[in-house]
Amino acid sequence: MTRNAIVTGAASGIGAAVARRLLDDGWRVAGLDRAFRSEAGQDAGSSGMQSIECDVAEEASIDTAFATVAKQFGHVDAIVCAAGVLATGSLTDMAVSDFDRIFAVNTRGAWLCARAAVPLMVERPAAIKHNPGRIVFVGSIAGIRPKTGGGAYGAQKSALHVITGVMAAELGPQGILVNAVAPGTVDTPMIAAVTSSLGDSSYRPSGNSPLGRIGQPKDVANVIHFLCGDASTYVTGSIIPVDGGTRAAFVPPTG
Ligand SMILES: NC(=O)c1ccc[n+]([C@@H]2O[C@H](COP(=O)([O-])OP(=O)(O)OC[C@H]3O[C@@H](n4cnc5c(N)ncnc54)[C@H](O)[C@@H]3O)[C@@H](O)[C@H]2O)c1
Repeated sequence: MTRNAIVTGAASGIGAAVARRLLDDGWRVAGLDRAFRSEAGQDAGSSGMQSIECDVAEEASIDTAFATVAKQFGHVDAIVCAAGVLATGSLTDMAVSDFDRIFAVNTRGAWLCARAAVPLMVERPAAIKHNPGRIVFVGSIAGIRPKTGGGAYGAQKSALHVITGVMAAELGPQGILVNAVAPGTVDTPMIAAVTSSLGDSSYRPSGNSPLGRIGQPKDVANVIHFLCGDASTYVTGSIIPVDGGTRAAFVPPTG
């Protein structure tokens, strides 16, 4: 039976890679993103994804988008909450509006979408109920090992990691697994936006990977695909770093 997924932030970066990975594996995917300007529920051409405009910072927008998904899919097997924004700045100087925005989108928005998906998972047909429903959050290595200039961003990702664990414990009895990935720096438009501003950006990556390269969206999408699939049915409440080993050991400076 075809499985149905909701992917937030599906218009770009990690969310787009997750949507592609699931579509390639035969899933039906509803992509939710505030960047989609298409009519709700329209098929996004050759990709096969249902593109639905949704601002995850707005409860009313989430309600409308999930009603569209419920109408089109009936039930949902997995939700991947990848919508997010980045704001940098020291905790003494950063704008209060930036602080509020990243919590509203990345933490509150992810939580609202995840819990809106629960009734759609509980509705799954008996034939597939042996396979647990899945909620996957996109946390960050910044929520495990925060860095200067990213205190607010790290704090909200850390909060999301806590939400992951508590939701896993609360939803386990209903047959729903809740996990998060914690990527290191990934090559997406989010990072390009803060590193390309005439070279004077104060942004610094979350450490250098011993693998000698920056993470790609598909590196993260592959792990999320595992968390949505048949090989991870006894994994819940886990925060899985996908960081190329950047925090595996402190590398002392040379010279
Ligand atoms: N890129 C990295 O280095 C990195 C590292 C760790 C975690 N993450 C997390 O991964 C997730 C995806 O980031 P990305 O790097 O792919 O960024 P991205 O900018 O490429 O994609 C983010 C998507 O979220 C959408 N979005 C933003 N605000 C929204 C809102 N209010 N409602 C609906 N959609 C909204 C954007 O339109 C965009 O399509 C974020 O939660 C981010 O915090 C990224």
